[in-house]
Amino acid sequence: MKLNIALLAGDGIGPEVVDQAVKVCDAVAKKFGHEIAWTAALTGASAIDAVGEPYPDETHEVCMAADAVLFGAIGHPRYDNDPKAKVRPEQGLLKMRQKLGLFANVRPTFTFPSLIDNSPLKRERIEGTDLIILRELTGGIYFGERGRKDGDNTAFDTCTYTREEVQRLAKLGFELAMTRSKKLCCVDKANVLETSRLWRETVQAMEKDYPEVTVSYEFVDAVAMRLVQWPNSYDVLITENLFGDILTDEASVISGSMGLMPSASKGIHTSLYEPIHGSYPQAAGKDIANPLATVLSAAMMFEDAFGLKEEAEAIRNVVNKSLSEGIVTEDLAGQNKAYKTSEVGNWLAANV
Ligand code: IPM
Ligand code: MN
Repeated sequence: MKLNIALLAGDGIGPEVVDQAVKVCDAVAKKFGHEIAWTAALTGASAIDAVGEPYPDETHEVCMAADAVLFGAIGHPRYDNDPKAKVRPEQGLLKMRQKLGLFANVRPTFTFPSLIDNSPLKRERIEGTDLIILRELTGGIYFGERGRKDGDNTAFDTCTYTREEVQRLAKLGFELAMTRSKKLCCVDKANVLETSRLWRETVQAMEKDYPEVTVSYEFVDAVAMRLVQWPNSYDVLITENLFGDILTDEASVISGSMGLMPSASKGIHTSLYEPIHGSYPQAAGKDIANPLATVLSAAMMFEDAFGLKEEAEAIRNVVNKSLSEGIVTEDLAGQNKAYKTSEVGNWLAANV
């Protein structure tokens, strides 16, 4: 099979971790007889530096022409403490989500048996956790009307959802639940917010189409609490953009390492695969960042975007092998030898 993949390395550790994923993908392609054509394009602060725009039109064209996008990370400390910056790297990410129509962000949380004691949560609480948060990604307060009034002394951000936006996300949630334990949790704040009441009403109306799925409706504050108390009681959770942003960071702690969690963003055009961690600027260029989240995102890409399950499994297996043999970066090495980012990538590619 010929795979056309857009490669958006971005900022900070993005280029280093993406490099390792490319090595692993190329090794998998060789083993299974595929041909990958990679097309690199600019995003984030590096795109602002080069062309003054965090998601340039040329990058959008590359993404639209590709079968899938593999993405690193964006963000640069130069912009973090400057609330008045006119262009920000993050705007590139939001623009990309909107222009590619990436309305569903799939963020799995699972535990690795060999790393279970890395989690700040007790083993007995997290053992067996295997959940997916499906976050709506192109609506809500992220994209609503915002501004200042009263001579700059009042600020507002508005949260808006249409029934159709809720339906298309919920549909993916129901379908995903059908392939798993048939449990779906709709996370909202329907005791306060009108948008949440629309979510709840819309999901309730869809229940009849999926009679085998058991749906629970829970308030986001309660979910935030239960997620760290009984994470293994959840399976598929669906939620709006901002709640999903917060809960997915919280959920990443369960696994014990943010450096391990992959994600997929799907929607209308090309799907995108990226690690859930950020650009980690303090580590940029040091060859110490953990590449596994990006490598596991590439596994999601093989399975989801190309239907290549065995290839995805080959990647997951070699990642598990690296973890159990201790071929890991310093964040996971503990007292043992820490390998460089590039060494981990080379080892994975050689052992695929
Ligand atoms: C994420 C990030 C982004 C978000 C930021 C960088 C705009 O935190 O992908 O979760 O809030 O969606
Ligand atoms: Mn986030």
